[in-house]
Amino acid sequence: MTLYDGKSVSFTRFKNLPPYPFARMRALLEGITPHDTSAGLNMSVGEPKHNVPDFVTNILHREQASYNKYPPIQGTKQWQAAVTGWISRRNNLMAGMVTADHLVPLCGSREGLFSIGLAVINRRKNGQIPLVLSPNPFYQPYAGAALCAGAETIYVRSDMNGMPDYAALPEEILARTALAFICNPSNPEGRIAGRNYLAKMIQLARKYDFILASDECYSEIYDDVPPVGMLDVCCQISQEYRNNPFQNVVVFNSLSKRSNLAGLRSGFMAGDPQIVSEVVRMRSYGGVPLPLPVQAASAAAWHDEAHVTLNRKLYGQKFDLAEKYLSGKFSFTRPAGGFCLWLEVGCGEEACRKLWQRAGIKTLPGAYLARDDEDGRNVGAPYIRLVLVHDNDLLEPALEKIAITL
Ligand SMILES: Cc1ncc(COP(=O)(O)O)c(C=O)c1O
Repeated sequence: MTLYDGKSVSFTRFKNLPPYPFARMRALLEGITPHDTSAGLNMSVGEPKHNVPDFVTNILHREQASYNKYPPIQGTKQWQAAVTGWISRRNNLMAGMVTADHLVPLCGSREGLFSIGLAVINRRKNGQIPLVLSPNPFYQPYAGAALCAGAETIYVRSDMNGMPDYAALPEEILARTALAFICNPSNPEGRIAGRNYLAKMIQLARKYDFILASDECYSEIYDDVPPVGMLDVCCQISQEYRNNPFQNVVVFNSLSKRSNLAGLRSGFMAGDPQIVSEVVRMRSYGGVPLPLPVQAASAAAWHDEAHVTLNRKLYGQKFDLAEKYLSGKFSFTRPAGGFCLWLEVGCGEEACRKLWQRAGIKTLPGAYLARDDEDGRNVGAPYIRLVLVHDNDLLEPALEKIAITL
């Protein structure tokens, strides 16, 4: 790039971040024209297709006069009451355990997952460059969180029932760790972490004094057993932390998947008030508060479970279809949570190209969601990820076509 005075400059800050997975997929498929699009479908993006709840649209319309106001960065009283209520119900917490001091509204959980590192990672941890632990494969903004904060990322293969075993890492790594991410249910594998695993991770975070960030974005999309919330486990095991049962822990959630509101950009971070106050401080300077109509509509959405129950039922039907066509193939497992399939297909990039060329079906190569392990092998390379979001009449022919084409 050339600056106005003719000097050239090269930007290096993000050079270690590869282009985002969707950009890489577009480049991979560029110039290929599908032969047959009769069952064509974009199954690469985790964007819900079920309807926006009517009451949300009505509230957004009703509240539009408030667009002339700057919204409070910590949320309106109404938003806070709705979210503290939902967190308490969902995590079996006594009233009053989660308050406004435990909460930050986010414009979707992604911006919080990305920017938390900036707010809370110091330049050094025990005199060394700090580390961020990430599952592998993983939701890509975790890598951005580390890079922005000047930290290095350690990618830990998710081979403990689909979760990374951070407790098995060497002592010197844990001592340098400033932040560790967990994704529960996991994306892309759709696995759910058990109570014991979560308890072990909380204890580890406290022992080595790092922040445990639990991405629970898919927590409400599950097959039959609701995933245990991290804040629930915190309370269960924190007798000696009575003043702050959420010590070292924050969770992220949003309405994007739960309520089919990916475009509303409405989520939250909740947990340890010390961490929350740092994120609030950062966001007061540079964060984007949720517009007041969005806060009002979000409050109503967190109060309502009927539309979420319906969603789960509809996703269950999609899982049934996936099972019908893919069971016994490509190491298929019915997702315990979330709506992604993680299929072992030999070479993910090749399968992705083939599905696009022969059937007009877009999927993501697993390699784009993962990094190399110690042996220099990308752990996602043999996989593709596809999402079960479309209506059954579009989904069924596409699933059948995938089974035949691959
Ligand atoms: C695992 C995971 N976490 C977080 C998010 C962020 O979602 P949002 O910013 O819409 O809340 C996504 C979105 O796809 C995701 O897959």
